Amino acid sequence: MIKRVHTRAFSNIALIKYWGKVPGGDNIPATPSISIALRELSTETEVERFDVGEDRVFINGVKATDKDTERITSYLDMWRELELIEGNYSISSRANFPIAAGLASSASGFAALAKALAEFSRIKLGKRKLSQLARRGSGSAARSVTGGLSAFPVGKDPAARLLIDARRLSYGMVAITVDSARKKISSREGMEHTRQTSPFYNKWIKLGAQDYKEMLRAINLRNLTRIGELMESNTLAMHSCIMSARPPIVYWSPATIYIIQKVRSWRDEGLDVYFTIDAGANVFVLCMKDDMDLVASKAEKLQGVVKVIKSEPGGGAEVISRQ
Ligand code: PMV
Repeated sequence: MIKRVHTRAFSNIALIKYWGKVPGGDNIPATPSISIALRELSTETEVERFDVGEDRVFINGVKATDKDTERITSYLDMWRELELIEGNYSISSRANFPIAAGLASSASGFAALAKALAEFSRIKLGKRKLSQLARRGSGSAARSVTGGLSAFPVGKDPAARLLIDARRLSYGMVAITVDSARKKISSREGMEHTRQTSPFYNKWIKLGAQDYKEMLRAINLRNLTRIGELMESNTLAMHSCIMSARPPIVYWSPATIYIIQKVRSWRDEGLDVYFTIDAGANVFVLCMKDDMDLVASKAEKLQGVVKVIKSEPGGGAEVISRQ
């Protein structure tokens, strides 16, 4: 019997965003999404089984807060209720990037956890099932199970699927993290508040579906300009919807706008670069792998920038070791 498992999953950044859940569903996105996994942003998780005692959760080496422990133990309860696993577990999760700073930590975190729990499962779980189970922890985690360039459609019990393997992608992303004094509103809370109060929410849902189809076409044509332009428009539409909630949510900081303008000016100078922003103030730049060094060196010089991370695409969730 397996006692201890060590897994890793990469974070992912959406080119077409998931924002909004189907009410009453099992964490079912209301918009389809497409993302790229990032090799430099990962979470490693060690899971050990106990037969007596309670679940224990550690994040980055320290005992997790009550809120985080509760979120993880209720996730384990779901696996237990589905009779996939038994017993109690010690979960130790380490991210190599700031947690809950709009750097998609829940995506890699829940994908790594689901991958580890699958090793303890009574029945063998395929990729599709695993992606569905990761989604129950965090929507975007469904896409970190598959990695590379993944598409995540809507539906009754949706799962992500791999469109293009990480090794075959010619572009990467540069994460530009900025100073942000704002306390982050979790995407879960932000989505629900937007659904309930934004006058543009229904329009956003329709637009998301259209952008998804259009992005699939642009990806098929390997057209980075079309991919990038559509990604920017979709990002700004999502944030406009979020900002139109009442009371409004603004995830950006002054540096966010400043970087958006810089990315546009680099593009005017001839660099093929496009921005996207998740539920935070940080900006991610999509560009050809060959341009990542230049983009990073330009980004490092900008005021308000805390850290710049260049990343090639990463693969799907994987087991590092099992005992
Ligand atoms: O899966 P969550 O709860 O981390 O929500 C993801 C929300 C965005 O990052 C803003 C968009 C996305 O598709 O990743």
